[in-house]
This record gives sequence, structure tokens and C-alpha cells, in this order.
Amino acid sequence: MSGKYYVTTPIYYVNDRPHIGHAYTTILADVLASFHRSLGDDTYFLTGTDEHGQKVENAAAKKGIPPLQHADETVVRFQELWKRLGITNDDFIRTTQERHIRVVQQVLQDLFDRGEIYKADYTGWYCVGDERYFTEKDLKEGKCPECGREVTPLKESNYFFRMSKYQQWLIDYIKSHPGFIQPAFRANETLGFLKQPLADLCISRPKSRLSWGIELPFDKDYVCYVWFDALINYISAVGYLKDDKEFARRWPASCQLIGKDILTTHSVYWPTMLKAMGVEMPKTIFAHGWWLTGNTKMSKSLGNVVNPMDMIDLVGVDAFRYFLMAEMTLGNDASFTREGLLRRYNSDLANDLGNFLSRVVKLTLRAGGVIPAPGESTGKEAEFDDAVAAAVGGMRSCLEEMKLDQGLAAVLAAVRAGNRYVERCAPWTMARNNDISHLNTVLYTAAANLRKLGVLLAPVMPGKMAELLKVLGGGDEKLTISDLTSGNFADPAGRQVLEAGILFPRIQDEEEPAGNPGAKPSGKAPAKAPEAPPAPAELVTIDQFAKIKLKTARVIEAARLEGADKLLKLKIDAGAGDIRPLVAGVAKYYTPEEILGKTIVIVSNLQPAVIRGAESRGMLLAAKFGKELRLVTVDGDCPPGAEIG
Ligand code: MSP
Repeated sequence: MSGKYYVTTPIYYVNDRPHIGHAYTTILADVLASFHRSLGDDTYFLTGTDEHGQKVENAAAKKGIPPLQHADETVVRFQELWKRLGITNDDFIRTTQERHIRVVQQVLQDLFDRGEIYKADYTGWYCVGDERYFTEKDLKEGKCPECGREVTPLKESNYFFRMSKYQQWLIDYIKSHPGFIQPAFRANETLGFLKQPLADLCISRPKSRLSWGIELPFDKDYVCYVWFDALINYISAVGYLKDDKEFARRWPASCQLIGKDILTTHSVYWPTMLKAMGVEMPKTIFAHGWWLTGNTKMSKSLGNVVNPMDMIDLVGVDAFRYFLMAEMTLGNDASFTREGLLRRYNSDLANDLGNFLSRVVKLTLRAGGVIPAPGESTGKEAEFDDAVAAAVGGMRSCLEEMKLDQGLAAVLAAVRAGNRYVERCAPWTMARNNDISHLNTVLYTAAANLRKLGVLLAPVMPGKMAELLKVLGGGDEKLTISDLTSGNFADPAGRQVLEAGILFPRIQDEEEPAGNPGAKPSGKAPAKAPEAPPAPAELVTIDQFAKIKLKTARVIEAARLEGADKLLKLKIDAGAGDIRPLVAGVAKYYTPEEILGKTIVIVSNLQPAVIRGAESRGMLLAAKFGKELRLVTVDGDCPPGAEIG
């Protein structure tokens, strides 16, 4: 790669404490920046806070303190959280800083002088929450079309940016630059929005109504609209109108991360502003989805907002970062649950990665503590080596395509291949039999590959991977992903392995249900969940029951699911050529051999799920009593696929 990379996060309002949404975008930016640094790119990572506007003024008024004092007090919470999360931003911009205010005022003056900003009377509606103006026809049932809250009628003189003039240009630009707004469906959403005539953008607020903002340089009775002010941070921080050399080095941004709720401001206001200023467009504006609590939107009134600090206390910073990156498919919403976090922690990190490291370390220490040069091939190296090569290649392409979850899945698949490799080679037997040549090969292959995987995971888990690399004889050397591919990757043979603590100690999880662990209703009740209506009697109608398709099926393959001691991975014949995978939480009660060949009862129309990386289509039925579990079967001979009802 080796080019330049500039990544930004939205700047966060200082009206509230940071929550998981803020933490997520910032961690994502950090991971992207760290990957690009590791690839040798000239990388710059900007985050900061949005400190003007009605929301901040209101929050300060509530506390009875001046807005700047409120901002000074709140900004620290963000900065402390970023420190705790190991965020490596190169700059932190606050919109109340002189360096930013000066640029905003210069931009305003220039646009005003060139007739891009004009004064006019405005009659319409205003949403205080969103700080946006709407025309009568914009409203949805008389309420704000964005947030559904009450709007206030307004008639006042204001300044407007001639945004409408750039409508056709923007449509053409989006169409001719497929990577500009990502994912593609967000570009389509923007194009949909642009089917309506685009109005000019009101960029002022009379001081009589809102005084907390940047004063318009050409009219002292007004302050600048907070979004117009805030968006400019992305260029004011990197030398725009101040340091041409620095600006040319950083801009255009490679990736501007946003949440889906602030798409319009970034995909319509921002590009048209830049166009009017004569500044190049960013390469990509990427909108990620939302973190939901279970399946519900996080909101203060529901009391279900996840506090990142609590999660760090539970699993540690690195595991929290890993979970957020591995769990969210970029662009889509994802569900945050404490159970989900613990499940992934225990399976991916404690079981797979942590175990692999401790195995490699123990085996090497037992063999003298030094990573040996490889001996004769055992013939089993290829699968593991291939999985590691696929992880290196996969991570790089997934990074370009913003598919971090898939990149991490490839790395974890390689970790599992490593565990399999060790199990298949049984180096403990080689040691016992004095088969030193093969033993050396296994120890070397395991350590060398694990080091590579550690380097790949370091942008996501910097602290833990530094520990891992140190334990594997790395000392303080800083290995990068470019080293992995450039041949500079130092050969670990001859290095001393260190005694290691447990990298990811297991955290006690709750019991998983027998039939389909993936379908477990996720999410604890939120701390202050709204009162649920009393549950109706637990009766279902015959129509409701008829929706559930029960069938007989025969188990035709069965195996334990790697890394999940409660799960079996089955292949079942559900009749009429319907052969499908099914994951069942019965491994504590049935061995693969015992379940093989049985005719079981399944829910055949259950939504498919991926459980610990394995696909599952359907759920088997079982009866549980005390500590026992018995499969539900049919009485006597019965072919697979018979309907049950
Ligand atoms: N100040 C503006 C951004 C100005 S950028 C020039 C703002 N700030 S915010 O603090 O309200 O939100 C910042 C980001 O947090 C947004 O991208 C938003 O999408 C994100 N999130 C807020 N809640 C979220 C989740 N529950 N999940 C993921 N991200 C969410 O908007």
C-alpha cells in the first residue's frame, strides 16, 4: 500500500457523557489508522468535539454554568475515555479553539464575498433538537421529519448558503464516484434524497435566539449554524488556510467515518460546501450502522445506553475493541449484549487464541525454552501455513473493502487451524518419543505463525498483542504488517520464550440452552427498562402454532464444534433431499457417535443463524430435566422429513 491515509471521526457533542456509539466510531478509526500505520502509510487520525450550538447551550444552562465551562468539563470525559481505550489520534480538535474559529470565519467571509452566501427572510419551522429548519411540506404529521419531535414556527431574517446550485453537480459526482459514499446503499439513499429539489442551507442563527456559536464576520448579530461550523473541523485541523504544505499532505481525507444518522449533513451539506470553497472532495465518506441494545435502539429514556467503561471493566480494553470490530458488519446495525460479549470473549479469545499461545509457550518451555529452528516436515504444516497466508491476504483486502469483521474471522480461522495443527501433530508424544526433528518443526511453525497472527491482530488489540509478541521472544521489536509481506519478518528461531500469564482468562458465562444457542434471546433486561405490560396468559392460537414447522430428520454427520465445549455440529437429512447443517447445544449429553444415525425432531423453519462460526439451519428439540437432557425422537420407524403436528 504505502501511501497516505487520513481518517476522521465525527466530532462529538459535549452535551453528554460518551457512550458506546462514540466509543465505537473512535475505536474503528483507531483500528483503521493503526492498520495503515502498520502498512507503512503516512497516516493521520483526527477526532474531537463539537462544542457550539443549541444542545450545548441548553446543557450548560441546565447546569447554570457558561457554555465554555461546560464544554471544558465535558471534553475531559471524552479525552479520558480515549486514553483508556488506547486511542492513538494525532490531533484532537475542539470547535471552540481559535485555530478553528479563524478558519470558519474566513470561509464564511470568502463565500459571502463571492455571493455564495446571501441574506433572506425565512418563514418555516425549526427543530431545536436537530437544530434544523424545515418547510411546511418537509414536516411529517406536523412534527420534525428527522426525529419526530415538536417543531416551532419561525419567521426571521437569516443567511443562506446557495446549496441548491450544486444539486446536479452532486448527483453527477456521486454517480461517477462509486467509492465516494459508502456503503453503496447509502449513496443510493443520498441520491434518493436528491430527487427532491434541494433548498439553500440556512447557515446563521440570530444571536437573540442563540448566542453560543461562531460570530458571522459580516454581521455581528448572528452566529454560524453549528453544522456549518462543525464540518469545517475536518480541514481546519490539517492546515486549511494556514499551512498549505500540511494541508496538501493530509487532504483529501481517505476515510471520513460517520454514523448513519448523520448521513445527509456529510453526503449533501459537506460536499456542496467543499465544492463552493473550491476544495477537493474526501475520497470516502463511510456510514456505519448503529449499536442496538439487544434489538432496541439505545436511548437515555429507556435506560439501555451501554457505558463503555463498564464493558472495559468486564473484559478489558483489548477484548472490548476486538468484540466491537468482530461483531459489527460495517454498514449494518449490530446488537450489543453482555452475553454476546462474553460468548465471543470466551470462544475466540480465551479458548482459541489464549489457549494456542499458552500451549505454544508451555511446549517450548518444556523443550528448553528456545524456539528451535525447524527440523523435518511433519507433512501437516501446509493447512496451517495456508490459513495464515489467507489471513494476511484476507486482512489486507478486507481493510480496503471495509470488511473488518471478515478480516478478523480469517485471522481467527488461522488461530483455530493452529490449534488443530498442534492437536494433530501431538508434539507431546514427539517429545516423549524423542522425535526432536519433528518436534522442532511443530514448535517453530506454531510460534512463527502465531507471531504473524499477533501482528495482524495488533491494530485491534495493541496491548495484548504486544504481550503475546514479547512472550514469543519478540522483546520490544515493533513488527508491522509490511514486515510480514516484505521478507523483513525476523525469524524467531533461537529466541527465548517467556513464561506467560493467561492472556485472556475465561470469564464465567451463563448456561446456553440446549437446542439452539444462537437463537437465545439476547440482552439482559436494561437496567431501567420501561415497565413491560403484564404478560398475557402463555397461550398460542392454532394459527400461531401452525407457523412453526416441525419435522423429523436423521443425523447423518456429527462432530464437536471447535472451541465450544457445549456444541455439536451436525449434518441432518430433513427429507426430500433437504440436507442441512445444524448446531446443537447437546455436547455435554451426547457424543457425536451417540447422536449419529438418530431420528430427531427439528423446528425446520427457524431463521438460519451462524453459531460460533458454523451455520445452523433449524433447531432440534430436547427435553431437559435437572442436569439431564434427552433428545425428542419418534416412536418407532419413521423416515426423515415427516411432518409433525
Ligand atoms: N456533533 C455531531 C457530529 C458532527 S461531525 C462534523 C454529532 N455528534 S454526536 O455526538 O451526537 O454523535 C456522534 C456519532 O455517534 C454519530 O456518528 C452517531 O451516529 C454516533 N452514534 C450515536 N449513537 C450510536 C449508536 N448507538 N451506535 C453507533 N453509533 C452511534 O452527531
